[in-house]
Amino acid sequence: MMNPIPSSMYNVALILLFSFLLGMSSAKLSENFYKKSCPKVLSIIKSGVRYAVLAEPRMGASLLRLLFHDCFVNGCDASILLDDTVNFIGEKSAAPNKGSIRGFDVIDKIKTQVEKSCPGVVSCADILTIASRDSVILLGGPSWKVLLGRRDSTTASFSDANRDLPAPAFNLSQLISSFSNKGFSVREMVALSGAHTIGLARCVSFRDRIYNDTNINASFARSLQAICPRSKDDNNLAPLDSTPKTFDNGYFKNLLSQKGLLHSDQALFNGSFTDSIVNTYSANPSTFASDFTKAIVKMSTLSPLTGSNGQIRKNCRKIN
Ligand code: HEM
Ligand SMILES: *[C@@H]1O[C@H](CO)[C@@H](O)[C@H](O)[C@H]1NC(C)=O
Ligand SMILES: *[C@@H]1O[C@H](CO)[C@@H](O)[C@H](O)[C@H]1NC(C)=O
Ligand SMILES: *[C@@H]1O[C@H](CO)[C@@H](O)[C@H](O)[C@H]1NC(C)=O
Ligand SMILES: *[C@@H]1O[C@H](CO)[C@@H](O)[C@H](O)[C@H]1NC(C)=O
Repeated sequence: MMNPIPSSMYNVALILLFSFLLGMSSAKLSENFYKKSCPKVLSIIKSGVRYAVLAEPRMGASLLRLLFHDCFVNGCDASILLDDTVNFIGEKSAAPNKGSIRGFDVIDKIKTQVEKSCPGVVSCADILTIASRDSVILLGGPSWKVLLGRRDSTTASFSDANRDLPAPAFNLSQLISSFSNKGFSVREMVALSGAHTIGLARCVSFRDRIYNDTNINASFARSLQAICPRSKDDNNLAPLDSTPKTFDNGYFKNLLSQKGLLHSDQALFNGSFTDSIVNTYSANPSTFASDFTKAIVKMSTLSPLTGSNGQIRKNCRKIN
């Protein structure tokens, strides 16, 4: 029997099939990813975040930190949201996260709402990205366009979280290399550190600084020592800058007067070449805002899973 389809058409079909498959695995993120499949997703997330942040402004900070700790560890794939299981210890238990990372209940609640509207369509990784942007807006910070289409991981890495997330005891060169490992310039690292304009830290994260550092304002150190004794109350909280519910450039102004809370904060303004960047951001809030938004868009697009990689989790805490 004669072949009814000429071979040139087979070739065309094959080329189309291959470019389709290639497109699937290297798909790009896009602004309108859910336009048809989940048209209400942005408004559902916005109201969920608004509800949570009005009830507790710190939650906006916690959600932004959650995004950072997700994206810096094998990309923005919601790996940080996975709970430990009997045969798996994930990122939540890693040192930089344990006892301090928060916001999971808010993400769960939003995910439930989103699943009601469009089941199995929107990834936890995208929800986290949108929720962080909305948090910053609610606390008075700048807005930016979110690119969507991330998918969720089926694994998480305890050891990579311990390796890749910066620690509050880091000096300037450690901070620079931690961010350069993820493709960020020194200026981008300083801009992203400006996220510490919102939120709180535990005594255990700043104790060494307030008792041992010399480049700290003395009365500032004394007032912190009152809430953070040398050998107890590890979990007592202090604001990361003087206006912790407002996303502004106060963080950089505080660094100029040696009032950075973490050692790693004050390391950015300590007689080295990053001083000039801190000076710029403290004097020009709009320069900080535009550098921060560019850098956070870059951070939130670090090696996403797209196309047919990963999955759309039904429950952000566990794989399907
Ligand atoms: C530059 C290196 C960084 C270091 C060493 C660092 C370290 C820390 C530490 C130790 C805390 C307090 C944790 C605790 O004791 O509870 C904290 C809080 C926070 N970090 Fe960072 N961080 C860095 C960069 C970033 C970046 C890039 C972002 C986001 C873009 C970010 C966002 C936050 C936020 C918003 C909080 C407050 C969270 C809350 O109140 O729940 N940090 N960070
Ligand atoms: C920064 O810390 C690292 C690791 O502790 C150390 O090797 C390095 O000498 C320090 N650099 C500076 C400039 O203090
Ligand atoms: C301060 O430095 C001393 C001496 O290096 C060290 O023993 C101590 O643990 C550090 N931290 C505090 C909170 O004193
Ligand atoms: C430290 O901060 C206090 C309170 O803001 C301020 O009055 C004082 O002048 C500062 N000290 C120095 C040395 O800058
Ligand atoms: C500031 O610089 C001095 C001298 O290099 C260093 O000993 C100190 O640890 C630095 N402090 C911070 C907070 O980076």
